[in-house]
Amino acid sequence: MTNLTLRFASTAPTAAALDVLVVGVAEVNKKLTVLPKSITAAQAKKITSALSAVGAVGKAGEQTRIPASGIASAASILAVGIGADISTEQLRQLTGDVTRALAGNKRVGYALRDHDHGDAKAVAEGAMLAAYSFTEFRNSSLVDQKTPVSAITIFSKHGSKNLATEISKLVGAIHFARDLGNTPPSHLPPAEFVAKAKKEIVGRAITATIWDEKKLVAEGFGGIIGVGQGSSRPPRLLKLEYKPKGAKQHIALVGKGITFDTGGISLKPGLNMHDMKFDMSGAGAVVASIIAIADLGLKVHVTAWAALAENMPSGTASRPGDVLKIYGGKTVEVLNTDAEGRLVLADALVKANESKPNYIVDIATLTGAQVLGMGLRTAAIMANNDEFRSEVHAAAQATGEDMWPMPLPEFLRNEINSSVADLANIGSGKGGGMQLAGIFLREFVPKDLPWVHLDVAGPAYNQGSPYAYNTIGSTGFAIRTMVELARRIAAR
Ligand code: BES
Ligand code: MN
Ligand code: ZN
Repeated sequence: MTNLTLRFASTAPTAAALDVLVVGVAEVNKKLTVLPKSITAAQAKKITSALSAVGAVGKAGEQTRIPASGIASAASILAVGIGADISTEQLRQLTGDVTRALAGNKRVGYALRDHDHGDAKAVAEGAMLAAYSFTEFRNSSLVDQKTPVSAITIFSKHGSKNLATEISKLVGAIHFARDLGNTPPSHLPPAEFVAKAKKEIVGRAITATIWDEKKLVAEGFGGIIGVGQGSSRPPRLLKLEYKPKGAKQHIALVGKGITFDTGGISLKPGLNMHDMKFDMSGAGAVVASIIAIADLGLKVHVTAWAALAENMPSGTASRPGDVLKIYGGKTVEVLNTDAEGRLVLADALVKANESKPNYIVDIATLTGAQVLGMGLRTAAIMANNDEFRSEVHAAAQATGEDMWPMPLPEFLRNEINSSVADLANIGSGKGGGMQLAGIFLREFVPKDLPWVHLDVAGPAYNQGSPYAYNTIGSTGFAIRTMVELARRIAAR
């Protein structure tokens, strides 16, 4: 990651030394209008006449670039049409669109909309999140890549040095998770995921405990071992812990970390199998979340668990018909090796519950059904507790991340009965695959412990074109929500 800086400034946008000054405009009563009050009437007039000369009208989403000479110290001005009453999240996304369009420029200043603290934060986050690229595996094509914007100034009355530092920390963690997600599978087997996480926590108030394959076998983690033994690259369980003085509440975060999901013996079709390098996004999200929470110094005890395995179609066990013993003793008949996420998560959930957290959240790219049912940009929230589900939903909405509650209907529970074991890892295939996976996981959580399961199969990675503040590939989804949730729980 290149050096990315963020600052808020309450000085005149037109006086700043910038490559590009981004200015919000709108069509007000059919008249092209410059929005920020920080731009003087005389300057605004020059801007609107230059814009009118090239046919700009200020329609929502319209982006028009003009030279800034005689108007501002920046080299150029980018006028951006902002629709009336767009939400904070829409403002965040619009800023992301603009920032991606400006790749190749270094110093960019934003005078878009500044109604309140929420606007200042949204513009800063949108710009910072969009200033990302993943070039580690480019060589001859590197020269064709435009470098993302790297010095970001937000002109705002509502920003502060503290806010800039907070956002930089949060976005730094999200970019770390994106790097993990984008790294090709052979470069990120379970042991390498652990090594990268360990390196990242150096100098932070986070401790790490690692279970290698021997320790996993010895202590009875049958789910992680079962899934991992088809691969020559052995599985791992990683626990990170942040326990600041004075913390009253303990949140456990559990992430699915399948570093590559071929489906195993129940092999997936070839089409888009490469997407399954992102099947560790849940693990990436929990690691990044605890890093951000520690960096922000939130007063809450957090444990983050990454259940890591590579799901490959070789080896001698965890094949269809096999029975695995999950940590703690429950047995599962594996009827389909492609329903592997729930197996590694079951081990990690039971282990995480041992230390009696007050809340537990798991994050997983768990089902294709989630993508089919809810699309590529909305995650599902399932729970054993309506109140906690609503709390997680509220935290998501406060950050702009798109999540929606889904039920765990009781009648589905019978579908995962097995004729030989305590449970089967798939149901009848008559629909409700996402909920069924949630019902399976619920079996491994005590009834009285508030638990939320986030299926992020759709939004965890962007397989299409870049949009808003997301490039192609890993999005770092759910980290903002987890940090917001931790903030709220810390305040109890
Ligand atoms: N990692 C996949 C789920 C997935 C699919 C995520 C597509 C993102 C996009 C998961 O391990 C899986 O393969 N689930 C199976 C479960 C089925 C065999 C019951 C699925 O959804 O097809
Ligand atoms: Mn699978
Ligand atoms: Zn999977």
